Amino acid sequence: MSQTLTIALTKGRILEETLPLLAAADIRPLEDMEKSRKLVFETTQPNVRFLLLRGADVPTYVQFGAADMGISGKDTLMENGAEGLYEPLDLNIARCKLMTAGVKGESLPAGRIRVATKYVNIAKQYYASQGRQTDIIKLYGAMELAPIMNLADEIVDIVDTGNTLRANGLEPRDFIADISSRLIVNKASMKMKHVQIQNIIDHIAKAVAVD
Ligand code: PRP
Repeated sequence: MSQTLTIALTKGRILEETLPLLAAADIRPLEDMEKSRKLVFETTQPNVRFLLLRGADVPTYVQFGAADMGISGKDTLMENGAEGLYEPLDLNIARCKLMTAGVKGESLPAGRIRVATKYVNIAKQYYASQGRQTDIIKLYGAMELAPIMNLADEIVDIVDTGNTLRANGLEPRDFIADISSRLIVNKASMKMKHVQIQNIIDHIAKAVAVD
């Protein structure tokens, strides 16, 4: 008999692209997750349920085993650290780049620079690897505003089309990492529920390869 399996997901565009992959493993939510105010959803498989979380919380649930599996952006995994997790599959969705950016045509001041970002750990590591000293300013969104208002010399943020940077008079500068959504699995769950989890991974892997 298979055990209960909990899968942590995120609201929004990523959910739209994720549900068809889970459907390929024959797991579908019993109601419209975007419209409901619920946070736990039963699925077409009685022993599988979905959680609907903020993106940044998905690795935390999976790390602590409150969820067995989850779908998380590589940016969130890099920022959060991946202790206690396996990352068996790149889902190839929500693809973008993590970049530095600053005001178009302006060069960086010598010495210590101010960097505004929600990716505090990634930014610290990146600038340190470049031998740059930084003061990191934690923001929760609308990072593009920070250089314009002279809160920061640069930002570290996700760039997809580059439209948001352009619309705010900024330019992309250094590439930090390619980002996409990843399937993550709690290490203990992978042992205890191996057959069940591997079966889901295999189905999703096939669906990703076909896309
Ligand atoms: C991200 C990011 C940029 C924008 C980049 O924000 O923070 O603002 O997308 O996309 P573009 O290069 O195509 O313009 P998102 O809309 O994901 O919302 P967030 O601020 O909550 O991260």
